[in-house]
Amino acid sequence: MSLIDHARAVRENAHAPYSKFKVGAALRSQSGAVHVGCNVENVAYPEGTCAEAGAIAAMVASGDTRIAEIAVIADSPKPVSPCGGCRQKIAEFADGDVVVTMATTAGVTLQTTVADLLPGSFDADYMSKV
Ligand code: THU
Repeated sequence: MSLIDHARAVRENAHAPYSKFKVGAALRSQSGAVHVGCNVENVAYPEGTCAEAGAIAAMVASGDTRIAEIAVIADSPKPVSPCGGCRQKIAEFADGDVVVTMATTAGVTLQTTVADLLPGSFDADYMSKV
């Protein structure tokens, strides 16, 4: 099963009654394990969480810490792009050259990298004087 297939499957479990926009994410960690997540919205809107955040939380909870590859899928007109917050969350656990596959449920995919999604990212180096 490809990473996109995993993301497509978990997307079905998304809790998105407010936006109606279901998102699925799947990542392969450096151990080879696949971790998945979907968006989980809340009636208190800011409390909702993105699919990528769920997949990352599952990875960390399993004891893995590095992302080797990540995919995200939604029923969007063009391959769905991780939001700004998710780009920062992905960058915490992925090298810049990690491939991010963005997909539509219709089957269109687009590949980019973590570095291209988040150029000039804030990282621990900025805190080196602390
Ligand atoms: N969403 C994600 O799960 N990932 C993204 O990167 C983009 C946005 C979710 C959040 C919210 O539940 C819905 O899509 C609409 O913004």
